[in-house]
Amino acid sequence: MTEILKSDDAGIAHAAALLRAGRLVAFGTETVYGLGADATSDAAVARIFAAKNRPRFNPLINHFPDAEHAFAQVEAHDLARRLADLFWPGPLTLVLPRGPHATICDLAAAGLNTLALRVPSSEVARRLLAETALPIAAPSANPSGGVSPSDAFHVLRGLEGRIDAILDSGPCTVGVESTVLDLSRATPTLLRPGGITLEQLEAICGKIRHADDYASKRPVSPGLMSSHYAPSLPVRLNAEHVEADEALLAFGPALSGAGLTWNLSEKGDLEEAAARLFAGLRFLDSEGVRRGLRDIAAMSVPRHGLGLAILDRLRRASAPRPTMPDAEGDDDDLA
Ligand code: TXA
Ligand code: MG
Repeated sequence: MTEILKSDDAGIAHAAALLRAGRLVAFGTETVYGLGADATSDAAVARIFAAKNRPRFNPLINHFPDAEHAFAQVEAHDLARRLADLFWPGPLTLVLPRGPHATICDLAAAGLNTLALRVPSSEVARRLLAETALPIAAPSANPSGGVSPSDAFHVLRGLEGRIDAILDSGPCTVGVESTVLDLSRATPTLLRPGGITLEQLEAICGKIRHADDYASKRPVSPGLMSSHYAPSLPVRLNAEHVEADEALLAFGPALSGAGLTWNLSEKGDLEEAAARLFAGLRFLDSEGVRRGLRDIAAMSVPRHGLGLAILDRLRRASAPRPTMPDAEGDDDDLA
């Protein structure tokens, strides 16, 4: 039984009590809904992996109400503190060496000697984290490999009966996950493009290394690509025309001849597009399947700002699907 809680004082207090008792609570952040559990408890974190049906133990992001609590877990250096001053609370995750007083459990860190930290900006999330007074591990609140949830109804659709509660704080404003920046190496390394743009980070850090080629049109090796954010219909990238039996994910002026269409942003605004991305994939998928369409044709978006995060998610949505439950493709939350 999954309870839906309102994001008022009573709802937040109840959600915090469940988390302290080791239960699973999905909660809204400015990026996507997270599936939260007590990050200091192996037993609680194990429930996240079970509920999502996540085949491998990938490290999770740990959420805090403020930078002070976050940095108590790690060895933070000047650059980390400067980035936190500028971008926290907000959609940036920092990976840093585990500190001597860290309380995050091994399972949340997947046995690594680094930890991923994030201070979300959404008011309800911050109140929940402050009231829980524990680090909260939270991957996106969807079954492994699927489209991330940007509202409470999406969470319910994917995880009803598998989690204890959903704290409903309405739709997420940013709409794509946080940017993950690894500061544990000599050169800052981008592990996942997201809500804070590369341009914003490079203005502070200088040149940032990219962990993969998410910005290029073609993957280095399709076999190595992970299917993720994947609707049930196939996704065709960089569409410059659309057939009658395709759904269209448009950006800017829609292609002529399109039937079923979701426009990310008619005026070509990347922030609006990011916020509408996952809801659009869900809509085109369910309606497209109902109408017997063949695939989703996705128009391209500019390769800068939030466009990098949108292109990364679309590329993963279009990746070859795994044929076995733990095949290479199904590494939800790895990237
Ligand atoms: O916006 C977000 O970040 C959402 C909301 C709920 O906060 N959370 C989220 O968590 O997307 P998750 O678990 O899906 O993303 C975790 C990402 C993965 O790419 C994972 O590999 C990386 O962070 N990560 C976590 N710990 C790491 C570590 N110690 N070293 C390297 N990467 C790490
Ligand atoms: Mg995810």
